Amino acid sequence: MSDLSPADTAKNAAAIAAVRLVEDGMRLGLGTGSTAAFMVRRLAERAAEEGLSLRCAATSQATADLAEAHGLKIETLDEIGWLDLTLDGADEVDPDLNLIKGGGGALLREKIVAKASDRMVVMADGNKVVETLGAFHLPVEVIGFGWQITRELIQRVLDSSELDHRPILLRQRNEAPYRTDEGNLILDLALEEIHDPERLSAALNAIPGVVENGLFLHICDLAIIGRPDGSVAEL
Ligand code: 5RP
Repeated sequence: MSDLSPADTAKNAAAIAAVRLVEDGMRLGLGTGSTAAFMVRRLAERAAEEGLSLRCAATSQATADLAEAHGLKIETLDEIGWLDLTLDGADEVDPDLNLIKGGGGALLREKIVAKASDRMVVMADGNKVVETLGAFHLPVEVIGFGWQITRELIQRVLDSSELDHRPILLRQRNEAPYRTDEGNLILDLALEEIHDPERLSAALNAIPGVVENGLFLHICDLAIIGRPDGSVAEL
């Protein structure tokens, strides 16, 4: 692992510490993103070395593909049912363990899997820890039908929340609108600071075209913060 960059050393350290929480027989949710990818690799190594019997559900097709390439069997969430533990990354973590997620576009499946788990543990590097959520653009998954109307309704929510004139960006990939695993679009909200995340989350999710937003409130139980020297801290 000595050829890892400092940033990847931090992610890998958080992933190793998170994988230590896994016990034989557990039903696991596997997160999405570059930190979660380290976790999947470390988990596959531990499972092979120790002969762990695990049942795993993935939060994205990318994670399912990676896990299966490393020898972990993936089942659907409905095949497994309730999960013991979900290990996932995050884009921001605040001191109350509230999160912004969805930078990798998997927020909907990630929230469903996290809510179906007894315990959700986040792995992150120190740059993700913030006092107030919002510097990272808040991803909101919306259906394609009437998405511009949905964007207008989101703008009205922001206007009524002292967040007026904040840009709402349609996420792109390869010069085309980005599509999630569910075939939906992502609007990224440049909010700067979110002072009332509960109210904002409820108002966004009350809009018919909004499927889910990237605020994960009171869902995360523990955050493992990796450092570039390979040490970890817990929040
Ligand atoms: C994907 C996510 C990711 O967990 C989040 O974007 C963090 O990714 P990374 O570990 O690559 O920084 O929410 O939807």
